[in-house]
Amino acid sequence: MKIAVLGYGTVGSGVVEVLEVNRDLITRRAGKEIDVKYVLDLRDFPGQKIQEKIIHDYNVILNDPEIEIVVEVMGGVEPANTFVSKALQAKKSVVTSNKALVAKHGSELLATARKNHVNFLFEASVGGGIPILRALGSSLTADEIEEIAGILNGTTNYMMTKMFYEGADYETVLKEAQANGYAEADPTADVEGYDACRKIAILSSIISGKQVDFEEIYTEGISKITVEDMLYAKAMKMTIKLIAECKREGDRLSACVAPVMLPAEHPLYSVNDVFNAVFVKGNMLGDAMFYGSGAGKLPTASAVVADVIAAALNQDKDVMNFWTGEKLELEDRRDTSRRFLVRMAGNKEELQNRILADFGDVTFVQPEGLTGEFGFVTPVMTEGCYERKADSYEEILHMIRVGE
Ligand code: HSE
Repeated sequence: MKIAVLGYGTVGSGVVEVLEVNRDLITRRAGKEIDVKYVLDLRDFPGQKIQEKIIHDYNVILNDPEIEIVVEVMGGVEPANTFVSKALQAKKSVVTSNKALVAKHGSELLATARKNHVNFLFEASVGGGIPILRALGSSLTADEIEEIAGILNGTTNYMMTKMFYEGADYETVLKEAQANGYAEADPTADVEGYDACRKIAILSSIISGKQVDFEEIYTEGISKITVEDMLYAKAMKMTIKLIAECKREGDRLSACVAPVMLPAEHPLYSVNDVFNAVFVKGNMLGDAMFYGSGAGKLPTASAVVADVIAAALNQDKDVMNFWTGEKLELEDRRDTSRRFLVRMAGNKEELQNRILADFGDVTFVQPEGLTGEFGFVTPVMTEGCYERKADSYEEILHMIRVGE
């Protein structure tokens, strides 16, 4: 079977490497040898073995009937969307690791794939090497999924881990993450939560079977998390993680990306460094957790190649048949409930009566060595209710959501 790879960046070169290193077992499992015939890239790679496969004109791939699977690992929405669409219309299955593309055009591309009796597969777009889409789509099919809470961005998890354990500040840990090659080319997508937002939109679409628009998911990143916030987390025997979550509230789903205080008992508490994890609660299954490498060349390429094998094995079968184009209206964030840690400038003795009168039965927090401010944790209340109450306090320095 001949395939083409679009993009010879980190993931693209990883795909070629996985296919080479594990050639024999991949041939056994796919039932046929899988050969990369073309690699599309704007660049040339003189002196490298890959150069003999490099082409610059996408039409060569489209017009070659020998190419049965196209692997899109270029990233970005365009021209990836046009290329993928054309490949599917030309009756070639497509495998991608591109979360921006899947979150924006996933349901349309799946419809195009179905119409043309080919597959559109995207396991690597969420959680890198963690097989979470396949688990949700083909293993946990007996359950109503009530909650997904994920650490879905390796860069920010690395940064939160360093800030928590080493007391390092935000700017220092961002530079380290970039130096280690974890961050996206523009780290805004990581630190402002946009990357995690697209990934939770895909997971929410998979569990609901409907289209969840990422633009409608409330998204707050980690760029405002400070050394002081981590002191509060320590005083509360908690940590702070960037959590992308999706919860069933009655017959509606809510979704959100934000830094959340997690207690030490929470399964995501000890997911550290660049690792990702997805915590899943099913109405029959109870709790399950999927953990592994969420980014990086070979883990991501491993998921891409597994999809290539799945496409090779399922040439007459629709694999991703659980996501339709029907739009899902998410629950309004202001109607979702939780507790909130509020950091206040000033003196607790002066403000506590007003706080107790407004917020009810709060728990005060005073991290050791931190002066001129104090904190309190509210009882469970809706975000809308919190915002109305918080509105009259100029002393609020920061609010962080608290997980259970
Ligand atoms: N920048 C992303 C991360 C890469 O840090 O998780 C994987 O999507």
